[in-house]
Amino acid sequence: MQLQGYHAVVTGAARGLGAAAAKRFVAEGARVVVADIDGEAARACAQAIDASGERATARVCDIADPAACAALVAQAESFFGAPIDVFLAHAGLGYAGPLTEADPERIRRIVEVNVLGTIYCAQAALRSLVRSPRASLIFTSSLQSVTARAQRSVYTASKHAIVGLTKALALEYSPQGVRVNAIAPASSDTPFLRTQLEAVGARDVDQAVREVAASMPLGWLPTPEDFADAAVFLASTSARSITGHNLLLDSGAAAGFFRRG
Ligand SMILES: NC(=O)c1ccc[n+]([C@@H]2O[C@H](COP(=O)([O-])OP(=O)(O)OC[C@H]3O[C@@H](n4cnc5c(N)ncnc54)[C@H](O)[C@@H]3O)[C@@H](O)[C@H]2O)c1
Repeated sequence: MQLQGYHAVVTGAARGLGAAAAKRFVAEGARVVVADIDGEAARACAQAIDASGERATARVCDIADPAACAALVAQAESFFGAPIDVFLAHAGLGYAGPLTEADPERIRRIVEVNVLGTIYCAQAALRSLVRSPRASLIFTSSLQSVTARAQRSVYTASKHAIVGLTKALALEYSPQGVRVNAIAPASSDTPFLRTQLEAVGARDVDQAVREVAASMPLGWLPTPEDFADAAVFLASTSARSITGHNLLLDSGAAAGFFRRG
């Protein structure tokens, strides 16, 4: 019970990595707001975590809307009856394909959600976090926040921005006791990865996922549960001296050139 009595908000929590983190937060003793642009899926996720609605509740939020981020924080404080202790700004969009073929509207939306939306979340969350004695703001970056990848230029740029945001806010809010860190996952088998693989032309997506896993030094992809472990660690007092850090969760992928055998 590493998060006993904590109050946590997770964006992009209706499915995938965010849902795994929200579920684990509750298992570790926290009360959680499951926030997502997809309200129906968020409600189903919160219900699955805690049918009583006392420990997990759903709220609709498009993080690209600053007013919606402010409303989410107000709704969370009202649900908790206290400031937020942990805000996991996880929601984000992928994009795969050559830049010259990218639709400008799609480019705009990636930057709007991954960069501006994450900043809007941080701005709203910090106004509450500064009143918590154990405050932790956690972003989800990506392996593409420290390495690049062909056909992922817009996404890579958006995730590099999260590293700068993490460092700057860690410095800015340390005096007020807020730790700011990021988790940088490599590919993890969620709808997010499968959509990217389809976009770059994978015909057999299951096989493509196996090939990505085999390309990892450890030979497997980080799981949603691995992501939840990292989120609990950064949220908990075990990480009390860690701030401004981008924690790689990448099965060794960023360590260097790798070929099995
Ligand atoms: N799965 C991976 O392989 C992987 C790897 C590295 C980083 N990430 C990062 O993790 C995050 C999501 O990954 P996932 O695997 O959980 O994805 P997912 O697609 O399974 O889930 C993403 C969730 O975010 C929600 N969402 C999308 N846009 C939103 C918005 N504007 N406001 C609020 N919610 C929104 C979706 O409705 C969905 O429920 C992103 O930040 C992504 O960059 C994922």
